[in-house]
Amino acid sequence: MRKQIAAANWKMNCTYQQAEKLLDEVLQSEVNLSYGSEVIFAVPFPYLIMANSEVADEPNYSVAAQNCHQKKSGAYTGEVSAEMLRSIAISYCIVGHSERREYFQETNQALAEKINVCLEHDISPIFCCGEPLTVREAAKQNTYVETQMIESLFHLSETQLKKIIIAYEPIWAIGTGKTASTQQAQEMHAFIRSILAKQYSAEIADEIPILYGGSMKASNAPELLASPDVDGGLVGGASLIAKEFIEIMKALK
Ligand code: PGA
Repeated sequence: MRKQIAAANWKMNCTYQQAEKLLDEVLQSEVNLSYGSEVIFAVPFPYLIMANSEVADEPNYSVAAQNCHQKKSGAYTGEVSAEMLRSIAISYCIVGHSERREYFQETNQALAEKINVCLEHDISPIFCCGEPLTVREAAKQNTYVETQMIESLFHLSETQLKKIIIAYEPIWAIGTGKTASTQQAQEMHAFIRSILAKQYSAEIADEIPILYGGSMKASNAPELLASPDVDGGLVGGASLIAKEFIEIMKALK
């Protein structure tokens, strides 16, 4: 079975003290993760080292950065490179979150470069894709997501693609309390897998975890996560409440 993943995306939330407390609460719950499951905490840059040392003795727990720059190094004041992340033993990085695309004008082409630089440093990208409401209303979501994948992922070799985690996050469901229905999520996940199969192979498509993101919480996680092509969640708001996130971890297949 594919790896099942509960990924917490804390975004720009929590002081250092709150971050330590939240991590402790989740780790102390000692959830008995199903076989092959993984929990990932995508925390703000200043907390990466602390979070990584907190999970050091927990085999199924990892830490992710929420972003990195597409260039290797240089005069890019305020930016963080994949090489820096690797030098502090970070093994995952969110790439192309819709908030980065919208507020920081990240294009599919720039995201392809970010994916490359992550892979060069042995960091697995958690690649986010997903359509805005206008596109969904026009029933053009499949073409929209396919273009995001073609332009940011499909230059990769098979070996490289196997390191990618995909997160489908319909923008209209992010932070809105409006979740995609289980059927909408399953349909899109199956579609994403079908285009991976077409571009690469059915075997490879079958290995890639595809997470759902967009107002996932304790109450809707069991149903969403039960869908055959939904391999976990990228969780924003609910990941800031230990009890909620723990329930999502428990709902992994
Ligand atoms: P949300 O955010 O769970 O608060 O909707 C998900 C995300 O943006 O990754």
